[in-house]
Amino acid sequence: MMEIKKVAVLGAGLMGNGIAHVCAQAGYQVKMRDIDQKFIDKGMATIKKNLERGIAKGKITQEEVVAILGRIQGVLDLKKAVDDADLVIEAVPEIVSLKLEIWKEVDALAPKHAILASNTSSISITQMAAVTERPDKFIGMHFFNPVPVMNLVEIIKGQATEDDTVKIIEDVSKKIGKVTVLVNEAPGFAVNRLLVPALLEAVFAIQEGVATVEDMDKAIQLGLNWPMGPLTLLDFVGLDTALHISDYFVEEFKDSKYRAPTLLRKMVRAGWLGRKSSMGFYDYSGETPKPNRF
Ligand code: CAA
Repeated sequence: MMEIKKVAVLGAGLMGNGIAHVCAQAGYQVKMRDIDQKFIDKGMATIKKNLERGIAKGKITQEEVVAILGRIQGVLDLKKAVDDADLVIEAVPEIVSLKLEIWKEVDALAPKHAILASNTSSISITQMAAVTERPDKFIGMHFFNPVPVMNLVEIIKGQATEDDTVKIIEDVSKKIGKVTVLVNEAPGFAVNRLLVPALLEAVFAIQEGVATVEDMDKAIQLGLNWPMGPLTLLDFVGLDTALHISDYFVEEFKDSKYRAPTLLRKMVRAGWLGRKSSMGFYDYSGETPKPNRF
């Protein structure tokens, strides 16, 4: 089985920096690529902050943090990011045209042996694989937020993904401390197939005035023992991401049961994307999150 040593992560955002973090922590050499230096700087700062959480708790030493950070190189140029990679993990925004364009470029620049993995949360692996010359080496590797904490990686097999590719990615996932499930491609795979309709339903309930934001969250958190309520989780995942997935489900399944509530679309249009924009179902601009009224 091919040994993975060098990993290129495309995107330094919420998911990209988490993926770069866990790969570097497992000993891989990582290049983290984004299109603007400010995104790279922000991603690196987040990784540093998240690694340093462990120092006070005695889980990691300052020296280890320095060594892990030393294995991550921020890169702007796509060619430089992928031309010596054994594995490319893509975590760019969930826009089909953007993903297809990037994969075409990466396929031309990355070594022929390199495995191409998308961290998409819903888009077709087969569709992305088809724009490359190596659909057998193309796979879905879906992480969960916050990447350093969440134990699961969903591995998604596209139409042409080879079993060897699956084995290599199972092995990499294990090395970075994750548990895997193997999913055959379908919109939303396994986790989002269930999660997204549940989160959308919570927004419909708010839109209909069923309960306040804090009561809806409290009900689900305490009634179902979720670590956070659905509206807090939506703010955490990003309202734009949830909306993209909802629109994608409607298009793929041709079933209106996956439609997004008007309220969600309106909030995204207003730039209320959740935690990352400091405004969503809660207002994060103060000391503690304050629920909004709708
Ligand atoms: N990065 C690194 N570590 C983090 C972190 C982050 N962003 N956030 C929290 N942690 C660590 C903390 O340091 C702490 O570590 P220790 O156990 O070593 O002390 C641990 O996680 C727990 O954190 P806290 O005590 O601060 O807070 P908590 O107990 O409330 O847990 C949480 C926070 C892990 C985020 C928890 O609320 C949770 O599991 N929430 C649900 C998350 C979830 O559902 N994620 C999936 C979203 S869906 C998705 O990502 C996929 C998609 O396609 C949409």
